[in-house]
Amino acid sequence: MESPFKAELLKGKVALLTGGASGIGYEISVQLGKHGASVAVMGRRKHVIDSAVEALRSQGISAIGFEGDVRKRDDAARVLESTLKHFGRLDILVNAAAGNFLVPSEDLSPNGFRTVIDIDAVGTFTMCHEALKYLKKGASGKNSAAGGSIINISATLHYTATWYQIHVSAAKAAVDSITRSLALEWGTDYDIRVNGIAPGPIEDTAGFSKLLPQEMLSKPKEQILVSKLGKKWDIAMAALYLSSDAGKYINGTTLVVDGGEWLTKPAYFPKEAVKQLSRAVERRSRDKPVGVAKSKL
Ligand code: HXC
Repeated sequence: MESPFKAELLKGKVALLTGGASGIGYEISVQLGKHGASVAVMGRRKHVIDSAVEALRSQGISAIGFEGDVRKRDDAARVLESTLKHFGRLDILVNAAAGNFLVPSEDLSPNGFRTVIDIDAVGTFTMCHEALKYLKKGASGKNSAAGGSIINISATLHYTATWYQIHVSAAKAAVDSITRSLALEWGTDYDIRVNGIAPGPIEDTAGFSKLLPQEMLSKPKEQILVSKLGKKWDIAMAALYLSSDAGKYINGTTLVVDGGEWLTKPAYFPKEAVKQLSRAVERRSRDKPVGVAKSKL
């Protein structure tokens, strides 16, 4: 799909993406790169990183990959330092690395719970913490007028409650809280903008196939979802908006990109029935108020 943004939107910028070699993270890498940014991707699996870097370069994007686990502070520090060594600056950090599996709460061990918190929440904080010195206003050269930008990939699972996702819901709630706290502190002190994106159901992703496995469903997943499926491109466009000057007045927000999915509830009645009966129901309740004793009328 063609981007509505200008190709030079992020010209001269450097971005580091955790989880940037696969899924939503990879599509964000592609779109940041296509809009002029140089891109470093970090992930645990060497072969996945290598093929992502090759694919990025084949599209004319200046790209490099580093192996690393966001749960290890040394890895975070090393990858950030290597990105700086390679590209000379850092403007954008995208925390897209995440872990997930479907599990009823009673079958989830404390270590399983902790593992996802460690990847999503502690990993996000660790990367932000280690990136701070590179993202501060002026860190990318004397003339850099503003600090950098951080985007934390979240979810909408915790806005209500989601079956068999207690660990991820807790982790993403923490991520959103980290986004707001850092936006407040680092926005004020260092001119760094910290925002989040909460994707809805996005086709062709690990999250989607893990959370709605076809073999557990009675009908095709497309029929179960109330709103349309999103594309990885939709999330990447939101990332371009938030990381570029288009979003320069946005700080501390987690942008929901889900086609309205999290707001949807089943309708109790068909719309036609409401159109026909709405006024009759009103008249009835005016004539015979419920819960008011007759003697008082
Ligand atoms: C119950 C499980 C489990 C399962 C793992 N565990 N899978 N418990 N049901 N299906 C438990 C293990 O038993 C262990 O606890 C603990 O979790 C750690 O497991 P490990 O396999 O040792 O961890 P690790 O190798 O580090 O792998 C982490 C992982 C894995 C999260 C479990 O799935 C992973 O690496 N995922 C990364 C890729 C990924 O998931 N991407 C999807 C992101 S989608 P015990 O007690 O036995 O030691 C996404 C979407 C968000 O984030 C929401 C969108 C709507």
